[in-house]
Amino acid sequence: MTEQSGAKWHDEPTDYAQIGKLPRTEAASANDIAPPAGVIGSLNITAAAADPELLDLPWHIALEDWPAANLAALPRGISRHIVRFAHLAGSVIAIKETSEHVARHEYHMLRKLARMDVPCVEPVAVITGRTTIDGKPLNPVLVTRHLKFSMPYRALFSQMLRRDTLTRLIDAQALLLVRLHLIGFYWGDVSLSNTLFRRDAGAFAAYLVDAETGELYPDLSVGQREYDLEIARVNIAGELMDLLEGGLIEEKVDPVATSELIMDSYRRLWAELTEKESFELGERWRVGARIRRLNELGFDVGEYAIKTTADGSTIQLQPKVVDAGHHQRRLLRLTGLDAQENQARRLLNDMDSFRADNNPDMDEEISAHTWVSQIFEPIVRSIPRDLAGKLEPAEVVHEVLEHRWYMSQKQDSHIPLAEAVQSYLDTVLRHRRDEAAIMLNPDTALLKILEAKPRNPGTTRTNTRIRTTSAGVQGSSVCASPLSTGSRPSSMWEYASV
Ligand SMILES: Nc1ncnc2c1ncn2[C@@H]1O[C@H](COP(=O)(O)OP(=O)(O)OP(=O)(O)O)[C@@H](O)[C@H]1O
Ligand SMILES: [Mg+2]
Repeated sequence: MTEQSGAKWHDEPTDYAQIGKLPRTEAASANDIAPPAGVIGSLNITAAAADPELLDLPWHIALEDWPAANLAALPRGISRHIVRFAHLAGSVIAIKETSEHVARHEYHMLRKLARMDVPCVEPVAVITGRTTIDGKPLNPVLVTRHLKFSMPYRALFSQMLRRDTLTRLIDAQALLLVRLHLIGFYWGDVSLSNTLFRRDAGAFAAYLVDAETGELYPDLSVGQREYDLEIARVNIAGELMDLLEGGLIEEKVDPVATSELIMDSYRRLWAELTEKESFELGERWRVGARIRRLNELGFDVGEYAIKTTADGSTIQLQPKVVDAGHHQRRLLRLTGLDAQENQARRLLNDMDSFRADNNPDMDEEISAHTWVSQIFEPIVRSIPRDLAGKLEPAEVVHEVLEHRWYMSQKQDSHIPLAEAVQSYLDTVLRHRRDEAAIMLNPDTALLKILEAKPRNPGTTRTNTRIRTTSAGVQGSSVCASPLSTGSRPSSMWEYASV
């Protein structure tokens, strides 16, 4: 391993206790991949896993000028930095040009969040030491894996966005924020632009995409949580105003009132997950009821505190440790299938009725395996190859089951699975956009929407979005972010000749 010129970072530079965030000069770590002879300059790659193909990418060229052959055409949200998608050994990566400080902070933060099972993009590498052929320095980059089947919120507006879809987006964003706050993560830049959405059985699952301003603490104070929530509210209002100006949401949607939905949604969920509840001894059933409610919301209670008053007449109950993914875990345990929370809930419901209809006395696990081989797998296998990129398999199965139900309601009779699948493929799936790679074959209508940039360039929300580090909570008031790199906001959509 060669000794590189770039300074090295302390192992976990995102620790709240670490004073300052400047790189420390240390020997190169075992994770660093040495550049081979042909690579220009002394590239320094810090990667979670060895991806030697990274070395084949044209790091000596400014990201903005990368050749089309390397780029993948996928939808991207609005951003201050230059962000591009590129092909890497059969998969797609997102590359963001930024400062070393930011890239390393974000890389380590994403690794920590992933270890804590928070939905976020997967960090791949930080690359520094880039230079052009004639030796001019180029910005370091953060590389993350492209989140498959994910969409930036603007890509969801292929037609005008309905108000209830908007509400579901905001609910997903609120759930993500609650999950982040539960583990002590202060985001500092909550917005729809910094979140990716995946379809989740009629709802959405939100993933964090931009951890640049995030900080981890043992616990967050009420002030920190409220501050993040306020940032979310203001940014969402701004983002909705842009959409309204662009004619992408119904005129009757009030951006300010809609953005406030996140406050209610967040507070309701936070209270359900954390608040103390008191009741009379005779109402002991309420312990089980609270746990069932939490399960229904998709959480397991890892630990809860129960106290009784001195005279023993009143019980106080408080969940202490809650883990998201209640249905996901049950589905995984029974079938080995890995789905999102609402998809898992939907599939488990179907599995339970399958068992009740076919053999209620059958062991739960055996019945689950029978369901996989008789329902899940036949549906997934019947998706023709050319339609496979439309939706992820668990979402297709959910939609087929819905479709079958509607068919049977309409015809007032039992619909065999094969008939429902064929009808779904012909009348629904074939007409959907390709969500694995929406932009590979964009039609003109979609292009128009995706190309629409926020109006009023001088006052785009990208420029005026609020973001702050937690230091701002203690010290100063909310400040509009400067364009940190001084670069123009990178354009939203990438078109490569694919
Ligand atoms: N791993 C990924 N998978 C899918 N999309 C991604 C990924 N990384 C980035 N993107 C897309 O690129 C956009 C910009 O990325 P990001 O928010 O990290 O940039 P930024 O310049 O730091 O943003 P900001 O303006 O909020 O500071 C995101 O909104 C998202 O749409
Ligand atoms: Mg961003």
